[in-house]
Amino acid sequence: MNTKTFSQEADFIKESAKIILEACKLPNAKIALSGGQTPEPILKELSHHVEKDNATFYQVDERYTEKTSPDSNQKMIRDSLNPKNFITFDTSLPIEEALSNYQNQLPNQFDLIVLGIGTDGHTASLFPNSPATEEESSPVAHTQTSEFTIPDRLTLTFPPILHSKKILVLLKGQNKIDAIEKFPASKLLKHQNLQVHFLV
Ligand code: 6PG
Repeated sequence: MNTKTFSQEADFIKESAKIILEACKLPNAKIALSGGQTPEPILKELSHHVEKDNATFYQVDERYTEKTSPDSNQKMIRDSLNPKNFITFDTSLPIEEALSNYQNQLPNQFDLIVLGIGTDGHTASLFPNSPATEEESSPVAHTQTSEFTIPDRLTLTFPPILHSKKILVLLKGQNKIDAIEKFPASKLLKHQNLQVHFLV
């Protein structure tokens, strides 16, 4: 695990966008993006670079709500990054159909997966008490939360996340200082190409 700690938000944004931009330059780049708040300014920075259009973007997870909802991860990504190629969970479908539809579009391997971590240790929408944290076969799962916005979630599971060529974890705030040590985020620590950016 390679950790970079930033005291200036501008540097955190610039260096994080730079890593995603480098991945965009790979042939047939396939990049999965998380939702939440931390990635938004980084995706806005990335949106100014035309190379982003070389990549196909995917979602790490989605809240089961309308794609126009302010709680929608794909809305945040569309509004901030304006991706040319973007494969999303279709939350207009019933949950199981949305999952199978998305699974059928997944690549064999991501070049980069960008993750956040909650203060409880969740990452993607894999919450500490969710059986999906132990899923070993299906690449996607339906999970539920009573602590965070929108109870029903559609998410990648650990197999595709840990199979990614590279993982970038974005952490903002002192309350995230030990987040990656908590289960299930701690499962990321075994990845051989894990980059953590921490804005104190
Ligand atoms: C979501 C995200 C989630 C997020 C963490 C951290 O749907 O909310 O995918 O896993 O990455 O909750 O969120 P912040 O970056 O907003 O702290």
